[in-house]
Amino acid sequence: MEYLVMLPGPTNVPKRVMNAMLSPVINHRSDDFRVLYKKIVEKTQKVFQTKSDIILLTTSGTGAVEASVVNLIKKGDKAVIPVNGEFGTRLADLIDSWGGQAIRINAPFGENPPYEKIEDAFDQHKDIKALYAVYNETSTGTTIRYMDKLGELCARKGAFFIADAVSILGGDELPVDRWNIDICVTASQKALAAPPGVSPISVGPRAKKYMQENPPPTQYLNLKRYFKYYEEHYETPFTPALPLYYAFNEALDIVLEEGMDARIRRHRICADAFYTGLSAMGLTPFAKQNARSNVIIAVNYLPGMDDKKFRGILSEEFRVLVAGGFGDLKGKVFRVGSMGEVSRYHVMRTLSSISSTMNMIGVKANPEATSAALEKLKDLA
Ligand SMILES: Cc1ncc(COP(=O)(O)O)c(C=O)c1O
Repeated sequence: MEYLVMLPGPTNVPKRVMNAMLSPVINHRSDDFRVLYKKIVEKTQKVFQTKSDIILLTTSGTGAVEASVVNLIKKGDKAVIPVNGEFGTRLADLIDSWGGQAIRINAPFGENPPYEKIEDAFDQHKDIKALYAVYNETSTGTTIRYMDKLGELCARKGAFFIADAVSILGGDELPVDRWNIDICVTASQKALAAPPGVSPISVGPRAKKYMQENPPPTQYLNLKRYFKYYEEHYETPFTPALPLYYAFNEALDIVLEEGMDARIRRHRICADAFYTGLSAMGLTPFAKQNARSNVIIAVNYLPGMDDKKFRGILSEEFRVLVAGGFGDLKGKVFRVGSMGEVSRYHVMRTLSSISSTMNMIGVKANPEATSAALEKLKDLA
């Protein structure tokens, strides 16, 4: 029996998308490819809600995040970054290791730093080049709810605004141009419900000009090359992973057929049902109320819930996959990816499997919990 993949990525991939990978290999220096690539770029622009250039790296999300640093940060450049989990920490360390100076705005895990602390950093340092923000911190299940204000702040201060939207794009609001995001990075295997391996980046005109005038000493992640190949040929500079492009193209069709507004609403309803159902079982979300993600539900274990045992039974007996915690949160939380294809079926099968697993390991779950979640899902088509 197939697994129900409720991980914070990769997520379940529709059959239609998997089947697209069976399309034949074509010459990536041919009109066949140019037509395909241009189509994918234009659809990605719609999903990102941007007119900016789009580059489709065939890497995992980390490749796109790294590209956003190595193409922008030079020795000594200051970059502000809120840090409240694993992915913010990694990004800040990457900025430092590339010779930049990450100005970390720390917050306890499960919370976002107050917006004012980020504004203060700009007042304290007059020469800040960029603000990097992990829009959805996957390790803790928090989402920054003031991305629009960060965009306005960067526009006022003349700083570049970079969003790591790896675990959220396609599952929550993200109007890249309206929020003044210069560089937005994501990955195929999360809320876009495609297989892992394609990581799109949008680059606005100001950032593009900077990258063209100041290319990095790298080869694969040198975005100047990608702009040139797209402008001159609608091609990529290096051999793209064609089957993944076919799959991503199909996944984008599914997103656009549903429409972004309907998709975001579905994610919101499913997240609400998860929070309601899990709370009714006696579990508590890890993230503070005003920071809770609609795509990653991080949940505190109750005493007696051993991570290995709990996730082992969920996986082996019920074929439901959820993730554990990172670093200090290992053994303390589990995380459910509520994204991509997520529907009433995914929510209810996951919740009832969690409830049964809790009973099997001797932690009594309230039997009414699933009804509370079902009620929240009644408006879903
Ligand atoms: C916010 C965030 N950034 C970056 C990454 C890295 O992506 P990948 O594992 O695809 O390299 C992840 C992965 O979960 C993520 O959630």
